[in-house]
Amino acid sequence: MEALKGVKILDFTHVQSGPTCTQLLAWFGADVIKVERPGIGDITRGQLRDIPDVDSLYFTMLNHNKRSITLNGKNEKGKEVLERLVKTCDVLVENFAPGALDRMGFGWDRIQEINPRMIYASIKGFGPGPFEDCKVYENVAQCAGGAASTTGFLDGPPLVTGAQIGDSGTGLHLALGIVTALFHRERSGKGQRVQAAMQDGVLNLCRVKLRDQQRLTHGPLTEYSQYGQDIPFGDATPRAGNDSGGGQPGWILKCKGYETDPNAYIYFITQAPIWGKICDVIGKPEWKEDPEYATPNARLNKLTHIFDTIEAWTKTKTKFEVMDICNPLDIPVGPILSMKELAEEQSLRDTGTVVEVDHPTRGKYLTVGNPVKLSDSPADVKRSPLLGEHTEEILEQVLGYGTDEIEEIRKSGAIGD
Ligand code: COA
Repeated sequence: MEALKGVKILDFTHVQSGPTCTQLLAWFGADVIKVERPGIGDITRGQLRDIPDVDSLYFTMLNHNKRSITLNGKNEKGKEVLERLVKTCDVLVENFAPGALDRMGFGWDRIQEINPRMIYASIKGFGPGPFEDCKVYENVAQCAGGAASTTGFLDGPPLVTGAQIGDSGTGLHLALGIVTALFHRERSGKGQRVQAAMQDGVLNLCRVKLRDQQRLTHGPLTEYSQYGQDIPFGDATPRAGNDSGGGQPGWILKCKGYETDPNAYIYFITQAPIWGKICDVIGKPEWKEDPEYATPNARLNKLTHIFDTIEAWTKTKTKFEVMDICNPLDIPVGPILSMKELAEEQSLRDTGTVVEVDHPTRGKYLTVGNPVKLSDSPADVKRSPLLGEHTEEILEQVLGYGTDEIEEIRKSGAIGD
């Protein structure tokens, strides 16, 4: 049974952050009704297109299991339909620029008047404060949330990461807020406002870097490689390259074939309890007893030399050979996997994390399915809707309009041609 069966989501989201959230809710079984501007739709339908006139992968991979209705929320008739949708649905989700829904006449006060049980969930770039009116995209959030200043190498510029922590990360945060508000509504009977700012979401994911900021006031960060390299710390958490963010030192090391394969690398963690096994594997058994190497504290100022020595060994093996040797010994290592390798990985297909979907105009394509698995409510990934594919169906079945009324709505221009 679908966990969120019966929950109706009025989905006013676009681009990436909001759609990630409503896609998750759809996978958990909610009926997600995506409202799009007639003739235009979500702007991502046309962005980064790989096939002419076909919904982009950007759009299709973020909008599975949803229904699409085209509706102009600025047209009088359109507003009437929208009001009916607000009355009927349980949750409204939006990630417009600040103030856009208020300008359309559907601010929080108005929503509460129309439907006091409604949960009104929003993503914005920033929370209240000096930047609250700004439009924000992924990389802006990564920069403003502390990710960029702490990512990259010490001698290089700030870096953004490939993981979409500002958009998809905040979408995840919002989804949790929505189901929490739904749970609360079960007891209180009342809806509430749920807000997630992208800056806050990124900072939440960079929590360990704020930890390090405070540790800095009590001395150098000994697990950072710059400590062992005698490079002084400044007054802010520095970029740490590939240093592990935890208490166990780790690094990315070259493996066999790195000269030609940009992903022939492995993440290697020198976890303290298995230090002896690491020494044996890399051919340095004498380090086990040597007081200069035997304890984690003694090793801290020699991490560069230690990882160089381990790398001399990993360079003689492929990343998968390193995995095969280290895993049985409980040495934590992780291969650097390319998108090509992930796309071809059978175990991810078997679990439904990577799914092949068929689309009427695009044909078959790969997507990432629901990464959260529920034992009684498996997610069945269905293709994204075409623009306005379900307009009539929603007007008729969800809102109860008759044929003549639908004709009248159409004539008003509220739902397009
Ligand atoms: N009917 C009528 N009007 C509609 C509509 C509909 N169905 N759907 C959208 N619109 C209108 C909006 O009301 C708005 O009009 P207004 O500015 O006259 O009030 C307009 O379309 C554009 O919306 P906006 O959100 O400003 O789009 P944008 O393309 O200029 O900005 C973002 C895009 C992402 C920068 C912006 O939406 C934003 O900052 N969102 C919050 C943060 C966020 O989620 N960012 C990450 C996105 S991945």
